[in-house]
Amino acid sequence: MSQHDPIATTTLGKHGPRVGVQGLGCMGMSEFYGVSDRAESLATLERALDRGANLIDTADMYGSGDNERLIGEVIRKRRDEVVIASKFGFVRTADDGLSFTLDNRPEYIHRAVDESLRRLGVDELDVYYMHRRVQEVPLADSIGAMAELVKAGKVRYLGLSEVTAEELQEAHRIHPISAVQSEWSLFARDVEAQVVPMAAELGVAFVPYSPLGRGMLTGAGLSGAEGDLRGFLPQFSGAAGEHNRQLVTQVTALAHQLGVTAAQVALAWVHQRAQVHGLAVVPIPGTRRRARLDENLQAATLKLDAAALARLDTLAAQVQGSRLV
Ligand SMILES: NC(=O)c1ccc[n+]([C@@H]2O[C@H](COP(=O)([O-])OP(=O)(O)OC[C@H]3O[C@@H](n4cnc5c(N)ncnc54)[C@H](OP(=O)(O)O)[C@@H]3O)[C@@H](O)[C@H]2O)c1
Repeated sequence: MSQHDPIATTTLGKHGPRVGVQGLGCMGMSEFYGVSDRAESLATLERALDRGANLIDTADMYGSGDNERLIGEVIRKRRDEVVIASKFGFVRTADDGLSFTLDNRPEYIHRAVDESLRRLGVDELDVYYMHRRVQEVPLADSIGAMAELVKAGKVRYLGLSEVTAEELQEAHRIHPISAVQSEWSLFARDVEAQVVPMAAELGVAFVPYSPLGRGMLTGAGLSGAEGDLRGFLPQFSGAAGEHNRQLVTQVTALAHQLGVTAAQVALAWVHQRAQVHGLAVVPIPGTRRRARLDENLQAATLKLDAAALARLDTLAAQVQGSRLV
């Protein structure tokens, strides 16, 4: 595949939209991973659409709405080429990037979608996710409200993030769910026990977030830039961070042998793992740079052989520090 070719497509859930087999995560363009170059972020978004990586992932909480405003600048002009996905649920309680509560009440959902649409400058969201489940609000109430948004023409398809297999099944009974988005990578495989098999059974697509382990699996290390909050995460800090970075050297060594990059190995692994489970998968690696986008899209056609897969299979069990949910 040359760096100008469009990537292959798949269907997001049984009746969902056609999307490129890899999307673009946009969170880091506005927050959490240090200072971004706005012009390069916008150029990266344009390039993703040029290459058919059209599942563009954002959330109302990323940059407190700035991320949706940024993306809106690009997608308004290219609306027909984009499958725009946003999320509701996190409500900030302080401006430190780390303090939130959750809200899933129907009245909140109705308000949140209008604000997302306004910031993005579009009439309809293609995918609307519940970012996190709040146990106190009956799932039926929240999914009912989301279904009303579909009826009202504000949202085309529904998604859930970080839910259990039971929650996915219950929600799907109320209204078809097109995609479940949860962390899934070489370093985070707990979803393979129950949620992935349930999604496969129901015909729901899986959208793995942080497929590069929030950057750790690329071997690139932290930027050290102001506003890069990863240093606070259990898997990145202290002895666990040291241990996990050491584990990553196994990925970089394999990548070196194969003549590819560690990021490409990590992404190819997610694509192939989904085939084992028999479901459509659309990873959304986050990047703010065109060159890395191109590098990451190359991974969609990379095939790891059985020996390579066996070497990677043991890594997740050795990771230290809990993942951030
Ligand atoms: N549903 C949820 O709860 C949830 C949670 C977290 C994230 N997400 C979504 O998932 C998306 C992806 O997750 P993520 O951004 O947390 O983690 P990720 O995709 O695992 O990693 C992103 C990090 O890797 C770096 N990177 C990307 N490609 C690279 C390459 N080829 N070589 C070296 N470094 C590379 C990026 O830096 P540069 O940007 O500088 O290239 C960034 O620091 C987010 O953008 C967001 O949309 C959803």
